[in-house]
Amino acid sequence: MLLKNKNIILGICGGIAAYKSCDIIRQLTDFKANVECILTKNAHQFITPLTLQTLSKNKIHENMFKHIDKWEINHISLAQKADLVIVIPATADIIARFACGRANDLLTCTVLASKANIVICPAMNTNMFNHKATQNNIKILKSYGYKFVMPENGELACGNYGNGILASIETIVSFLINLV
Ligand SMILES: Cc1cc2nc3c(=O)[nH]c(=O)nc-3n(C[C@H](O)[C@H](O)[C@H](O)COP(=O)(O)O)c2cc1C
Repeated sequence: MLLKNKNIILGICGGIAAYKSCDIIRQLTDFKANVECILTKNAHQFITPLTLQTLSKNKIHENMFKHIDKWEINHISLAQKADLVIVIPATADIIARFACGRANDLLTCTVLASKANIVICPAMNTNMFNHKATQNNIKILKSYGYKFVMPENGELACGNYGNGILASIETIVSFLINLV
């Protein structure tokens, strides 16, 4: 029960594996963690806030400029309450934005403002993952102390075989349990 009562911020990006975030939420809430989701703008193309809200039993955070609770600044309050931030699936784009220290949406601002452990779970086409730009960005983030649960081999959504599939839910959850 190591995850019990932990506040986990789950960042969800615009990749095909976004649907797997539902299974992660189910497992984390089974462990009695409190899960709050932040969706990037592009994540909406892959998964609905209604599904995530229903599974997590929490409001979904999407817009940096829409205050949900009274006077709180959303990205700062989320960053401060987080015991752990995980990003599933982490796209090539979000990894690049994190590596540059960008703060141009709610997820990047929250990650930049948080002192919690940041766990990145990449999922993308093999060539995108192997590209020097992505690999350099991962190196930079590792040097900042970000943790990675690396993708696995298998059949990608594009039909190719290779590295780039989101790590299994079991692997990701075990990683989180060992981290807290
Ligand atoms: C059908 C489809 C599937 C995609 N899957 C992925 C993916 O698995 N990984 C990835 O890095 N980008 C993927 N992309 C590209 C991202 O959606 C794009 O880079 C986007 O800007 C990511 O935005 P975000 O990181 O802010 O959510 C996909 C695009 C499409 C149209």
